[in-house]
Amino acid sequence: MTTKELRRKYLEFFKSKGHSVIPSASLIPENDPTVLFTTAGMHPLVPYLMGEKHPEGTRLTDVQKCIRTGDIDEVGDNSHLTFFEMLGNWSLGDYFKKEAIEWSFEFLSSPDWLGIDIKKLSVSVFEGDDDAPRDEESAEIWHSLGIEKNKIAYLPKKENWWGPAGQTGPCGPDTEMFYWVGESEYPPEGSNPGTDEENWLEIWNDVFMQYNKQTDGSFATLEQMNVDTGMGLERVVAVLSGLKDVYQVDTMWPIVQKIEEISGREYIENIEVIKSMRIIADHLRAAVMIMGDNKGIGPSNVDQGYVVRKLIRRSIRHGKNLGINDNFCSKIAEVVVDIFKDVYPEIETNKDFVITQIAEEESRFRNTLEQGIKRFNQLVEGRGEDSVISGLEAFDLYQTYGFPVEMTVELAKEKGLEVDLKNFEIEMEKHQELSRKGAEQRFKGGLADQGEETKRLHTATHLLHAALRKILGEHVEQRGSNITADRLRFDFSHPEKLTPEQKQEVEDLVNAAIKKDYPVSFQEMTVDEAKEQGAIGLFEDKYGAKVKVYTIGDPDGAPEASSQSETFSREICGGPHVSHTGELGHFRIKKETSSSAGIRRIKAILE
Ligand code: ALA
Repeated sequence: MTTKELRRKYLEFFKSKGHSVIPSASLIPENDPTVLFTTAGMHPLVPYLMGEKHPEGTRLTDVQKCIRTGDIDEVGDNSHLTFFEMLGNWSLGDYFKKEAIEWSFEFLSSPDWLGIDIKKLSVSVFEGDDDAPRDEESAEIWHSLGIEKNKIAYLPKKENWWGPAGQTGPCGPDTEMFYWVGESEYPPEGSNPGTDEENWLEIWNDVFMQYNKQTDGSFATLEQMNVDTGMGLERVVAVLSGLKDVYQVDTMWPIVQKIEEISGREYIENIEVIKSMRIIADHLRAAVMIMGDNKGIGPSNVDQGYVVRKLIRRSIRHGKNLGINDNFCSKIAEVVVDIFKDVYPEIETNKDFVITQIAEEESRFRNTLEQGIKRFNQLVEGRGEDSVISGLEAFDLYQTYGFPVEMTVELAKEKGLEVDLKNFEIEMEKHQELSRKGAEQRFKGGLADQGEETKRLHTATHLLHAALRKILGEHVEQRGSNITADRLRFDFSHPEKLTPEQKQEVEDLVNAAIKKDYPVSFQEMTVDEAKEQGAIGLFEDKYGAKVKVYTIGDPDGAPEASSQSETFSREICGGPHVSHTGELGHFRIKKETSSSAGIRRIKAILE
């Protein structure tokens, strides 16, 4: 079984059950300030789980690129990955438990599809609590399909509840499917994921999304009952091919082989070598996928860029463990691009950017790495077991030698020492840097929840986008957008700093559009029709064949027509938006800065 085969089979199966195949969305969420990365297939679908109409219907399936930084410390074991691909199928208020479970079962066990021996399968369901009842219904369905009762584990929220993707939004109880990976061919009688966590590997998760987690932590019932499922591509290919770990699947193994070649070491040499090779393979694969994702993200000290930096620097250090002392990251990046270019063509388009960025970062870091490690060793020399590396010391390693604090923690751990992270954070804040933790937890509340405020800023973003094109020219294209409760941030392509006059003109034009109280409406159409109508926005395949186009102004008007029938902006977008621009108040640009080469960033507010 290859990844290509499993992707194809999965989509084909759900197509045969009436699902539309939609393409993977970007790894960098558009307009969702609560998280840095797309962590699951459901993430880009949040508005539709909340009740927005999806142009492709109520049954969807896809393969989604995902990044989970929360599992980063687990990387190095058999199955955890930072970047992975998730197969998923969705019901947007369409089918529910019965069909979802029956289809999961059919796909896993039918000889026409994966043909897994059901003796090697077990499941878990939600045991129930104050928020939602015990899921006897799912257990019954599994049992009726042939899963023995003692192979069904009832587990608490910690295990059998999924979501929301950010801090608020759609979530619900889930039922998970597990594959036997123990030493014996079959599991012992009565073994299930509740009794033996080690030897049952989760391979698929069906979430019954019927709740909306709110800012106060409570769960409101959603307007529609949804299904969200996620199957880890690499894991399933590994178990079905009888591989011992996910690093041996075809989207990973060539990377490991390249590391073997560069280091002259063998993957199976010993546990340290295995671990370092896994970390390098995982981290550089993830870094390349982020940088190659059309958003122009390179290593930096903030947000996604900080994660990229950390992934690369940690790889370099583990490279050192293997005896690699020369630049090697861009050689690995080439392999990653080759692996994925047919599945995610953007990675090929952005290849030069990725290779340049990764090579520069490696050179930058290598310049100080040796000294940093020396400094670290000096710091800890002669210290007793209980000694702690102070916040200031960790900060100095970060500031002077570019050590991400996680790397200091890792080095310390190898010596049995701890790092005072609390004081490190305080030092960081003092120096007004954004730590990873800060970046990931900076925003409270999300698109799912903020309602009106976010909607207003979202509509203002469309006005800004259109105004920039009118004032600066049609070369302006969106490169990123992020909204918090109190401001919008918009990244766009433009070669130079805006003059004060240009800034004023843009601001005035947006405010004039607000004054005109244009109606905001949307229509569904194909990407080609949208292009024909002059819609702007991300035409990437992420939207699938049919898209929603939001118009501000007259939906039938032309851009140059008289003000009554004028179309101010026409943009591909999932929504939601306010209904009239008059609701926006006054628009003000707070800041205009450079985001990266050729990309400007505007932060603006409504007051
Ligand atoms: N959203 C669910 C998961 O990621 C399916 O496991």
